[in-house]
Amino acid sequence: MNFMEKEKPIGVFDSGIGGLTVVKRLASTLPVENLVYFGDTARVPYGSKSNATVVEYGLQDARFLINKNVKAIVVACNTVSSIALNEIKNAFHIPVIGMIEPGAEFAVRETNNKRIGVIGTRATIMNQAYSNAIKKLNPGVEVFEKACPLFVPLAEEGWIKHQATYDIAEEYLKELRDLEIDTLVLGCTHYPILAEVIQEVIGKNVKLVDSGIASAEAVMRELDRCDLHTNAYSQGHQDYFVSDIPVKFKEVAELFLGKNVNNIQKIDLEMLTVI
Ligand code: DGL
Repeated sequence: MNFMEKEKPIGVFDSGIGGLTVVKRLASTLPVENLVYFGDTARVPYGSKSNATVVEYGLQDARFLINKNVKAIVVACNTVSSIALNEIKNAFHIPVIGMIEPGAEFAVRETNNKRIGVIGTRATIMNQAYSNAIKKLNPGVEVFEKACPLFVPLAEEGWIKHQATYDIAEEYLKELRDLEIDTLVLGCTHYPILAEVIQEVIGKNVKLVDSGIASAEAVMRELDRCDLHTNAYSQGHQDYFVSDIPVKFKEVAELFLGKNVNNIQKIDLEMLTVI
């Protein structure tokens, strides 16, 4: 691969702040790569929208990153990954990495009793993205899925350890707790922000799978395969774009990433819909 191509950044997008959980993993797995992040904060949540809308938004988000001249795209949104990954792969001729397959592989490796729980947005759960991917890898695994839509606004709000988060987690997770799962896939990139509460409520003996870790490894393998690693030695930088006012995004990003995040630019929604 030519020099110019390798030095381009990696594009990452999500409906909001959830993809930052993937940015955190990418920055530790591939520390010298530059990242361009787009969070569609004006239109979050995606998980309660129709498949057609999710495909439309996913293609617009990916095109925004293509226009930022990225060398690969990480669909850091399980909802878009479960519905629109093929459409995005077919539309753009650069590597596109989603969340579902890496997360499913990770979960199948982790489980001992072959009973896996999956939590995600309504769209991800309705599309049975994880159960299909897990059963394809090992038909003997039992998968129990539960949509937890309210976790997304709680994460966007930064209510990481709020009492309301405990109460809602209790309500959502009580039935999974009775099913003797030993592994729980956090099948939405917003959920690792609430991981402490989720772990406490589901119980310490259930292993949480953060699909961001698995997908960061998948991105590394894809850069290997395509010979696309940067030649740089210095720490990579991250640029952030959002489609609505960045105040809350900045606050939660700093809380979650544990560092100052200053380079956040707001873009006009029109920019997404006319290109
Ligand atoms: N963070 C996204 C996901 O992984 C989407 C959450 C939403 O917009 O509903 O599914």
